Amino acid sequence: MSTQAQTAQVNDPVYPVPAEFAKTAHIDAAKYQEMYAQSINDSEGFWAEQGKRLDWIKPYTQVKDVNFNFGEVNIKWFFDGTLNVAHNCIDRHLATRGDQTAIIFEPDSPETPAQHITYNQLHDKVSRMANVLRSQGVTKGDRVIIYLPMIPEAAYAMLACARIGAIHSIVFAGFSPDALANRINDCGAKVVITSDEAPRGGRMTPLKSNTDAALLHCSDKVRCLVVKHTGGQTTWIDGRDIDVKALMEHASPDCPVEEMNAEDPLFILYTSGSTGKPKGVVHCSGGYLVYASMTQELVFDYHEGDVYWCTADVGWVTGHSYIVYGPLANGATTLMFEGVPTYPDAGRFWAVCEKHKVNQFYTAPTAIRSLMGKGTEFVEKYDLSSIKVLGTVGEPINPEAWNWYNDVVGKGKAPIVDTWWQTETGGHLLTPLPGATALKPGSATTPFFGVKPVVLEPTTAEVLEGATEGVLCIADSWPGQMRTVWGDHERFQETYFQQYKGYYFSGDGCRRDEDGYYWITGRVDDVINVSGHRMGTAEVESALVAHAKVAEAAVVGYPHSLKGQGIYAYVTLMNGVEPSDELRAELEKWVRTEIGPIAKPDLIQWAPNLPKTRSGKIMRRILRKIAENDFGALGDTSTLAEPGCVDELIENRMNRG
Ligand code: WT7
Repeated sequence: MSTQAQTAQVNDPVYPVPAEFAKTAHIDAAKYQEMYAQSINDSEGFWAEQGKRLDWIKPYTQVKDVNFNFGEVNIKWFFDGTLNVAHNCIDRHLATRGDQTAIIFEPDSPETPAQHITYNQLHDKVSRMANVLRSQGVTKGDRVIIYLPMIPEAAYAMLACARIGAIHSIVFAGFSPDALANRINDCGAKVVITSDEAPRGGRMTPLKSNTDAALLHCSDKVRCLVVKHTGGQTTWIDGRDIDVKALMEHASPDCPVEEMNAEDPLFILYTSGSTGKPKGVVHCSGGYLVYASMTQELVFDYHEGDVYWCTADVGWVTGHSYIVYGPLANGATTLMFEGVPTYPDAGRFWAVCEKHKVNQFYTAPTAIRSLMGKGTEFVEKYDLSSIKVLGTVGEPINPEAWNWYNDVVGKGKAPIVDTWWQTETGGHLLTPLPGATALKPGSATTPFFGVKPVVLEPTTAEVLEGATEGVLCIADSWPGQMRTVWGDHERFQETYFQQYKGYYFSGDGCRRDEDGYYWITGRVDDVINVSGHRMGTAEVESALVAHAKVAEAAVVGYPHSLKGQGIYAYVTLMNGVEPSDELRAELEKWVRTEIGPIAKPDLIQWAPNLPKTRSGKIMRRILRKIAENDFGALGDTSTLAEPGCVDELIENRMNRG
């Protein structure tokens, strides 16, 4: 099965907007053209109007202050306005929809009843949790780490932070104690919120004991708030560990909101780059919420009363923008699912869609690929007639998966929105609007309002016009854009604004076709995308070389039929250490504990020598080609210090079969 989405060119099939759909959609084709033109020609006027979708405490008079020049990078939106994000996601809805369901919680086990949490109940829980945080000394600007399963308390914790102006940073529950400790320390968190355990697919991840292990490497001032979720046994350190639910019961349900400037940080989210440790991406209160709410409404064509489900985890940006902030700002009903697509069987997604009559369903190509392999009977058992829009995110979707999603899940009636964006962008940048955009399978189609994509020649930085291929940059800011890297504005500028002057550099390559449609071709840097999870190859390498038996390691991505990309590690052992299958298993386990299960190498190849230039730089281009089994395209190997080592690597690759 091909995972390459971008190969089809001349005869790309086109799926027009269903006429019936366009009639009731928020945006049809004509409206898109008109609004897009305005958003580009009069950016300030356009966003001044869109900012009104939020409630402001002090309305803004200034819309935009942006400088993309390296050395002077500065991004501000609505920057003299004040607001509170939790007020916008909860309180302002109470008068009209207090009894409407805000969050549907579907637990890991289908045997456990679902919960329907109304906006009134959400207000009560969030206010109580906010008061608990205040009682622990958390105030405006303090950092709070959230390390929780996909349970309503994760949303309560996010919104409780927002309510009191604390900055949350969620660490995905699949990350290891080391990764957790690094993040606690990098942002100087006062508090960690965790739970006893995280059940997923019937298996437990011991979050509290992971947190105990992490906190050994942190200041002893850090408090640990524990949500007793499964009731599993945990060790308990009096004075440090706090039973959140018990305190919430006694806390006041009344918690006035903190007045925040539009540019005050709302959250930090760590993400991998091509070099160094993960960066703390900073998103702020005003612009981020305007953008998350607008895209959630228009990209999914969300209407009052719809039930909307995004299957991401709140540990990733998708969960932030499209499970919690965007939908709740719009007064939507958003579904949170604790489990996995294949438990108790491969029909779970569709069982949940039927059970809760889901109208918009948003997932990742990797999930679609794994489910299509299990057969259509798992889908056909269920009534999916409620589904109006399907969405995908995280990586290019290959045509086979697109067609299956369209035909088997959507019965050819539900437009598929293929949304291209990044942790850094806060919300969708390239995406169809379901009532406006004709679809081409594998293309993220056209820009959202206010987004100015440009394609540059990778080496000369020349702006390429018309149908072309190059690196994808963005020419002007949009309100959801990240503002800085936590504690390191230099790194922010160097990563995104240095290489291509005057532009935001996405790190992705793309093709633009004759119709102006964009086709993402994948990362052009040393970042890989494994099952829609982003990973720096440098991170996996540094985990490997931290092992006593490893001298050197080089990690690249390779095409993987389910994951999109797999992790291919070339490992040079210390002198005298013999390669063995046991050692391979040991290294796999090592990386799992150093970073987390998602970073485990899929293939480890022993490499007595790595191809290096005479100055000692590893030639990753060659390693990528070998990992791809593409030996005909190795390019020039004459600058290598020892050209012979390439044959040796190919020999070993081929022997793997
Ligand atoms: C990278 C960002 C944004 C939420 C999920 C991932 C890739 C994302 C698409 C898409 C092709 C995509 C890009 C991007 N990507 N969406 N629809 N088509 N590629 O967020 O972890 O920040 O990763 O994911 O390579 O740069 P992230």
